[in-house]
Amino acid sequence: MGKNVDITKVVRQHADMENFFTGGFAVRGQRGRREQIEISEVADNVTGEFENNQNDKPAGDIKIELEKIADEVRCCRKCGLGSLRTNAVPGEGKANAQIVFVGEGPGADEDAQGRPFVGRAGKLLDKIITGCGLNRSDVFICNILKCRPPGNRDPGAEEIISCLPYLQRQIELINPDVIVALGAHAARTLLDTNKSIGQLRGQFHEYYTGIGRAAIKLMATYHPAYLLRNYSQDNRRKVWEDMKKVLAELDLPIPERGKK
Ligand code: URA
Repeated sequence: MGKNVDITKVVRQHADMENFFTGGFAVRGQRGRREQIEISEVADNVTGEFENNQNDKPAGDIKIELEKIADEVRCCRKCGLGSLRTNAVPGEGKANAQIVFVGEGPGADEDAQGRPFVGRAGKLLDKIITGCGLNRSDVFICNILKCRPPGNRDPGAEEIISCLPYLQRQIELINPDVIVALGAHAARTLLDTNKSIGQLRGQFHEYYTGIGRAAIKLMATYHPAYLLRNYSQDNRRKVWEDMKKVLAELDLPIPERGKK
């Protein structure tokens, strides 16, 4: 892979991992980081540190297509949530990401900003990502629902049916090597099952984008919001075990702390 060693990054990665395991939630300012870049709706392939996925389409073409989907989402009125939102939240990240994280749906912070996972759960997701030795700009982050259900209630069946095609098209375009489904709603929807997240997490499943296309590996894990509510050593260890399997599948280095 021919990576240059970035000492600042290695130190931060260790600190994040330590923090994640020891229970600290102080999220350090992200802005000053050397490699941090402004993340637009669909970020460019900026770091070049991690190899692209197996997509045969140029990243620029994928980005244009993703932006078209994002524009459709912002105009969408297919379900009742369209008239309740402040902002739609199409998703953001690297066009040819190796990993796509899929959450449940926007909360209040996401609705206000039009960006996924920017509230408390998002800060924890950021910590999980940096603990894996990656940056937010290395991955694509989105949700099953693109608009906030009022009061953060569970997504309704009709809302999922209306919204899912946007996510399916995003995944098909990005064609990541691994999807990480965050929480029961994402995992059950993508895998079309009623199994519990406890049953689904910890092992790879297969997600199919279409006939004749290779299955994409899907790892289910606990949603960061669930982790925040149930912040036990055991739950954090389970999430880390799941993420280590993802890193191993992608042949990416597993940070020292996590090897133990
Ligand atoms: N929870 C989610 O599932 N998605 C977000 O974007 C934020 C919180």
